[in-house]
Amino acid sequence: MKPKKIGLLTSGGDAPGMNAAIRAVVRAAVNSGMKVTGIMRGYDGLLSGDIVEMHAGSVSDIINKGGTILRTARCPEMNTEAGSDKAAGICRILGLDCLIVIGGDGSFRGAVDLSKRGVNVIGIPGTIDLDLGCTEYTIGFDTAVNTAMDAIDRIRDTSSSHERCSVVEVMGRLAGYLALWSGLTCGAEVVLIPEQGEEHNNVDRIIEQILENRALGKTHNLIVVAEGVGGSDALAKEIERATGIETRATILGHLQRGGSPTALDRVRAAYMGYKAVECVINNEYNKVIIYKDGGYSAMDIVEAVNYERPYDNAMHDIIKLLAR
Ligand code: F6P
Repeated sequence: MKPKKIGLLTSGGDAPGMNAAIRAVVRAAVNSGMKVTGIMRGYDGLLSGDIVEMHAGSVSDIINKGGTILRTARCPEMNTEAGSDKAAGICRILGLDCLIVIGGDGSFRGAVDLSKRGVNVIGIPGTIDLDLGCTEYTIGFDTAVNTAMDAIDRIRDTSSSHERCSVVEVMGRLAGYLALWSGLTCGAEVVLIPEQGEEHNNVDRIIEQILENRALGKTHNLIVVAEGVGGSDALAKEIERATGIETRATILGHLQRGGSPTALDRVRAAYMGYKAVECVINNEYNKVIIYKDGGYSAMDIVEAVNYERPYDNAMHDIIKLLAR
């Protein structure tokens, strides 16, 4: 069957590059003869029928913009049977041949629930956390790493002038990728991530390492803490108390979610948006577009949400090796 109409929404935390993906989906679909219904504020907007018809011009001048023109929200109602039933019914009323969902894990779980109710769905991974095991890339991660790197570089300037210890907390929910990447790019001595567990993230061990590094001639210190480990303020206080080294904590927070997407995020978002529409044209539904081993492909959405990528120590080992 030739698909005639798709729905498109962004859901969960916004990520730089989502607009580039929206542009790619809309242009690829319209240029293939399909209609595109934009759904505002993620599943919230779907449930309240907050829609907008999109055409090629709707996505002009957005490729360089952070955030999402479709807006986004977290929608607890989609975690209920009644919410999913209602959303599936609305997709049918709207006459959608497929709903394309740009978002992360929670957004894809909502899409799985819709697929179980007979709605065709395609997921495009968009989250700064890179916390989807099925794909080696998620839209927004590269920009967020670059933003964190830039912010930490600035903190390093003042930390080095004052010969202080800086503790910087980055986002990432329960995943340590943002912390690892920003830690490696900024030459952090210690990176604390949830994947490493309590033994590694132990305060006494961190203090010992700071003192060893000072003894080796370091005049300032940089510790990057993943949000999933947290406690940066308390850690900074404890380091200062135990070492006598002036220590400051900075939580980077939501600034990591904004900003103009990097070239990499724009390119990959464009490919993923295009690939999603290609799946629709080929009647290949209930998939997530993934990036793996240097290429793009489509993975079954149930397999994708359950896919667990084993944690690989390699990056953490390199950070430790290069720290002194
Ligand atoms: O998933 C992206 C993310 O920024 C996480 O890193 C963070 O834990 C969460 O969203 C914050 O969510 P909110 O913006 O709803 O506070």
